[in-house]
Amino acid sequence: MDQWAGKVALVTGASSGIGAETAKLLAKGGMKVIAVARRLENLKELAASIKSEFNVQIYPIKCDVQQEEEILKVFKWAEEELGGVDVLINNAGVVVNKPIIEGATEDFRKIIDVNVIAMAICSRELVQSVKKRNARGYIFNINSIAGHYADLITMPISVYAASKYAVTGMTASLRNEIINAKLDIKITSISPGMVQTEMIEKAFESLGDVQTLLEGVPILKDKDIADLVIYGLSTPRNAQICEVIITPHEAIAPKNPRPFSNQ
Ligand SMILES: NC(=O)c1ccc[n+]([C@@H]2O[C@H](COP(=O)([O-])OP(=O)(O)OC[C@H]3O[C@@H](n4cnc5c(N)ncnc54)[C@H](OP(=O)(O)O)[C@@H]3O)[C@@H](O)[C@H]2O)c1
Repeated sequence: MDQWAGKVALVTGASSGIGAETAKLLAKGGMKVIAVARRLENLKELAASIKSEFNVQIYPIKCDVQQEEEILKVFKWAEEELGGVDVLINNAGVVVNKPIIEGATEDFRKIIDVNVIAMAICSRELVQSVKKRNARGYIFNINSIAGHYADLITMPISVYAASKYAVTGMTASLRNEIINAKLDIKITSISPGMVQTEMIEKAFESLGDVQTLLEGVPILKDKDIADLVIYGLSTPRNAQICEVIITPHEAIAPKNPRPFSNQ
C-alpha cells in the first residue's frame, strides 16, 4: 500500500472491532488516519497504543454519524488540517437483536441512519473532497453477509439485513456514478460473516452466555477484515476489487444449500 503512504484515511466506527484494527493497520502502512466514533476515550486509547507500537500519530475525533453536522465538521477539519480525505472506510454499524415484528421504530431508524444514511453522507463528502483536488480516492464499505444472504440469519437482527442489502445497492450505484463522473476513485464492498467483536457480543447477549454460545463456532477476527482493506489499497491502479465475501473457513459451505430460499 506504499502508493497511499502520506495520504489521509478516515475510518468511521474506529473505537472498537474492525474499525480500530483497520485504523491501526492503515497508520502502520504510513497513512494519516482520522479515527471517528462516539466513544472518544476508546479512540484516545487506540491513538496511544498506535503511537507506542509504531510511533505514528492518528487523529481521534468524536463524531456521532447519526448527526450530519458532526460528519461535515470532520470533513471540514480534515480539509483544513490535512488537505482532505483520500481513503474512506465506511465501517460504523449497529445491530439490534429484536425481531422487526416486535421492534421499536426508533431502532429501525437508528440502524438505517448509521448503516446506510451516514455511509451515503460520508461517501458524498469523500467524492467531493477528491474531486476538488483532482486526486485519487478509495471507498471501502463494510457490508455483511447479511447484505447478500439474509435467509441464512435466523436470529432476530431487526432491519440490519435490510440495511446491509442497501449497502450492496449503494456500492453499485456509487461505482456507476463515479465511472460516469470520470473520477479516479475505487470502491470495494467487504461482506464478512461472523467476526469476533463487540457487535457479536451484543447480538447474542439476550440469547444467553455469549462465550458459551460461541464455543466452537468458527468466527473471523477483526484483523481478517482489516487485512482486506490493506490488500485493496495494494492493488495496481488498473485493478479494482468490487465485492469481497469473507466467511470463517469451516463455515463456508452454507448449511442451507439454497441461501435465497427457506425451503
Ligand atoms: N461483527 C460481525 O460479525 C460483523 C459481520 C459483518 C459485518 N460487520 C460490520 O462491521 C462493521 C464494524 O462492526 P464491528 O463488528 O467491528 O462491531 P463493533 O466493535 O461494535 O464496532 C461498531 C463501531 O461502530 C461505531 N458506531 C456505532 N454507532 C455509531 C454512531 N452513531 N456514530 C459513530 N459511530 C458509531 C461504534 O463506535 P461508538 O459506539 O464508539 O460510536 C463502533 O466503533 C459494522 O458495519 C458491521 O455491520 C460486522
